[in-house]
Order: sequence, then C-alpha cells, then structure tokens
Amino acid sequence: MKILGIETSCDETAAAVVENGCNVLSNAIYSQIAKHRPYGGVVPEIATRSHVEKLPGIIEEALESAGETYGSIDALAVTYGPGLASSLLIGFAAAKTLAQRLGKPLIGVNHHEGHLHSIFMKADAPAPEDVFPMLGLLVSGGDSSLVLMQQPGRYKLLGSTIDDAAGEALDKAAAFLNLGYPGGPIIQQTAEGGNPAAIRFPRGLDQSDRGKWIYKYDRNLCFSFSGLKTSLLTYVKKLDHVPEGDELRDICASYQEAICDALVIRVARALEIFPVKSFACADGVSLNKVLREKMEKLSESTGIPLLLCPPAYCTDNAAMIAGAAYEKVRLGLDSDEPGDVNPNLKLTDWE
Ligand code: KG4
Repeated sequence: MKILGIETSCDETAAAVVENGCNVLSNAIYSQIAKHRPYGGVVPEIATRSHVEKLPGIIEEALESAGETYGSIDALAVTYGPGLASSLLIGFAAAKTLAQRLGKPLIGVNHHEGHLHSIFMKADAPAPEDVFPMLGLLVSGGDSSLVLMQQPGRYKLLGSTIDDAAGEALDKAAAFLNLGYPGGPIIQQTAEGGNPAAIRFPRGLDQSDRGKWIYKYDRNLCFSFSGLKTSLLTYVKKLDHVPEGDELRDICASYQEAICDALVIRVARALEIFPVKSFACADGVSLNKVLREKMEKLSESTGIPLLLCPPAYCTDNAAMIAGAAYEKVRLGLDSDEPGDVNPNLKLTDWE
C-alpha cells in the first residue's frame, strides 16, 4: 500500500510517499528555518504563508521522486494536530481536497504518533509488533513527553513538560547567549570540548517536596526546564563579562548536560516502573549527541533494547506521517477521515 503523506504542523513543509509503512519511496521537505531565524523562533504567519507557497511544489516533488502519480497512490495521510492551527490547516485543506478529487481515503495522523513511528524508518528496524510494549521519549521544540505504547495507536501519556520543552530551553538559551537559531545544534556545537561538570545546573523538579503539584501525571515522570533556563540566565548575568571561548564552551556543555540528564533520569524511572520490551527516543532534540550517548548507556545498564530515530527522520517530515497512517490501516484502528484540524490534539490514553 502506497500512501502520500503531508505534514505542515509547524515550520517544515513536507510530503512523502511510503510503501507498507517503512519503505520510504520519497521524502520531500522544505525547511523554513532561514525565514524564522531573524526572529529567533517560529512566526506563525510566516510559517502559514510559506506552506501556501511551497506545499504544491513539495507534493509534486514527492510524487516525482517516488516515481508515482496521483493515480498510483492508494491513500493520503495528513497531520491534523497538534501544531500551529494556521499551519495545520494548509496541509489539511490540501490533503482533503486531493483525497476528494482523487476518490481516495484520507487518514488523519497525530503528529506525535508520526514521530513515534519514525523509529521504524530504517532498513534494519525491527517489526513494530516485536518491540511492544515500548516506552517513548518525545523531545522537540514544542513538547517533551514520556509515552507508554502498547502497540501503534494505543498510547498512555506518562509525563510531560509542565513549562518549557527541552528544545525550547535550548533555543531560548542560544538566543540569550546570542548564538543564533535553532539553539539545539548550536549549543551542541559550542559545547564541543567544554566541561559538562563545570557548572551544576538544576535537573528540574528534583526537590520532590517543593511546591504544590496540580498536574494529573506522576511528578517524578514530568519535566520542567524553566528553572534551568533561569539558572543559566542568573549565572551569566552575574558574570561581569560576556562569556566566550572555554568559558562559553563550559556553560553550553553544562547546560546541555543538565537537559539531557533531566530527560534520561525520567526515562530510567519509567523503565523501573513499567515492564517494557524496548524504549525509544524521537523528534528534533533526539538528534543530540549527548542525549543519544546517555540513552545508549541506559540501554546497556538495563539490558532493555533502545530504538533511536534515524537522524534523517528526527525533525518534522511526512514519511513518518504516511508510515503511522499505514499502521493504523494495517491494525484496523480508527482511521476515519478527520473533520477538522485540532491544534491541541492529544495521544489518546487507552485506559
Ligand atoms: O522536531 P522539531 O523540528 O520540532 C519542532 O518544530 O519543535 O525539533 C526542533 C527542535 C528545536 O528546538 C531544535 O533546537 C532541536 O529540535 N534540535 C536539537 C538538535 N537539533 C535540533 N536539539 C539538541 N541537539 C541537536 N543536535
């Protein structure tokens, strides 16, 4: 089954053709990073206008490089949430119109579900049915979540960030340090050769008796990065100079270390509580070298296999959307055409 996937939930305009869930025939992406860079973050109106301009060409490119036509694909898939409402609507309207015109089914996919599926987008990936139940860490510029996955389509959210996302904390730190955008890769690069133990930044929510807890998830499995960000700000403001050279390297290495520790500590806790066959890490921040190393160490010490998202599919793409849509069809899960986008779409709890 060949599915044409469309993804426009944030600042990447993407279309892809995927056969039987994991065989990527094409993966066309237009990244808007250069357009948002002057503003230090994603500007919704610029993102939307750019999707309008680029999406038709990106869909054509995806079909052409896959050697397919509108007539030869079996179905369409589209991200219908979560994300920026105006961005989602561009991909959704295009997919709905195409599906209707072509008389083909349209499968709506949750963006997070797509990222969770992205770990299977490589030739030597295990079959989805061999790795469940699985624990997933999703880390991006807009979200940091721990998800327990019974099978594709059967999710339980275990914990989430209560303030900033991990990628957001990196992006904001890089902006504050005047290093540029997006912050994740820049902080990683600047941290090269720095001492990760030079400054002890907080690991978020590590004082269990502090503050009232109003969230529905286990505090020990939730993330908080705003204190860490403030701690960096305070540290740098106290210096009587602008950090550079070794000092800047140490600051970035220590900050990156704290973010990765905060993430991996919660993954380790969840692995102790929930018996799973494997654990996984996906989304933009999963490109981070230090995070990958720490997750690999955790896999060695627990003996639980780790599935890391292939780098090419870490940031937003449509191949993961088409792949996740195939799993929904294969497993006979709800794949009804959604009526509208949902910017706050959640991964539905199976309980
Ligand atoms: O998946 P993505 O494109 O989702 C969002 O649009 O949020 O991820 C983007 C995020 C940004 O916050 C970016 O700084 C971060 O992923 N990122 C990284 C790295 N590459 C991208 N964070 C840490 N290390 C990296 N190498």
